[in-house]
Amino acid sequence: MTRIQGYPDPGEGLRLHLNENTGGCSPRVLEAIRRIEATEVSAYPSYTSLVQACAIHFGVSPDWVLLTNGLDEGILMAAVGHIAKPRVLDAETIIPLPAFDPYPNSTAAVGAKAVRIPPGPDFVFPTDAVVAAVTPRTRMIFLNTPSNPTGRLIPIPDLRRIAEAAPQAVVLVDEAYIEFGGDTFLPEVARYPNVLVGRTFSKAYGLAGMRVGVLIGQPQALDPVRDVTLPFNINAVAMAATQTALEDTEFLPRYAAQVAASRDRIYAACRRLGLPYWESAANFVLVRVGEDAPRIVEALAARQIHVRDRSKDPTTPGCIRITAGVQAHTDAAIEALGAVMAERRSS
Ligand SMILES: Cc1ncc(COP(=O)(O)O)c(C=O)c1O
Repeated sequence: MTRIQGYPDPGEGLRLHLNENTGGCSPRVLEAIRRIEATEVSAYPSYTSLVQACAIHFGVSPDWVLLTNGLDEGILMAAVGHIAKPRVLDAETIIPLPAFDPYPNSTAAVGAKAVRIPPGPDFVFPTDAVVAAVTPRTRMIFLNTPSNPTGRLIPIPDLRRIAEAAPQAVVLVDEAYIEFGGDTFLPEVARYPNVLVGRTFSKAYGLAGMRVGVLIGQPQALDPVRDVTLPFNINAVAMAATQTALEDTEFLPRYAAQVAASRDRIYAACRRLGLPYWESAANFVLVRVGEDAPRIVEALAARQIHVRDRSKDPTTPGCIRITAGVQAHTDAAIEALGAVMAERRSS
């Protein structure tokens, strides 16, 4: 099969498979993009003003902020800066499951060994097992709160415990979905020189197409990543968009409220349909539809509702992941899921 860059395009319909903002970005962001001047496009970008805006937004000093081309790039560059560049031999990373693919992929890219930790019952975070897996070879620990795909949070005391158990390792706390629920670890970063917090503008702010993420941490953890990150990694259009997204303070709470209401509607639908689900602090819900998950995902796609099939991952058997966004979109997904389940039960 010919390999094409990126994920396959699902075609027409509602995109509820990649946890995007289903309503699009703020209209003010579009205006800012339209106002870009020719010389902003012809010049190499300057990052000072967006770094300063992010520092204020996240409550840290500007030298604790590194803008990345999506948080994806931050994840890879953290592994390059802390494992590949210093040529750490026999390095291990710890990856609690189920996990976001770039964690094992970045581990493999830098030649390290991934130590995978199975989830607890009902996806309770396996803190004891993570701490027990720490060895002198551990160089990175990937923690994701709320977790993609379960939506479950890691309690702040557990994050502290892990950071303290592995002072020789960088603990990457991936908060890609934290705007939708839960407490951020950011106020703790001043106490933990080995922690990097990852954030993204792709989800709550609706800028996935712009590709802007942020790593936040003390220079001890951040500078090795800065050293390997290409100097002009984010384009000028994306920066103008992000600057305006930060200024539009009404957009995010309004969208987060829609997401919360949509999650409740998905839970209620699952109860009606008798499908197990897990309460989520993020903009998606993991639902167990059973052995037929791949066929159910196909049947939903035929109704132009695109959700994520998680059933091939042994830690999420029989599960699909549905993005919760604008309520009307969620209602369309619920209606389609109801119809597909009814068809399957009657056949
Ligand atoms: C857990 C997690 N981290 C990071 C990202 C990456 O976000 P981006 O590269 O769009 O900033 C995602 C995107 O799906 C994610 O689910």
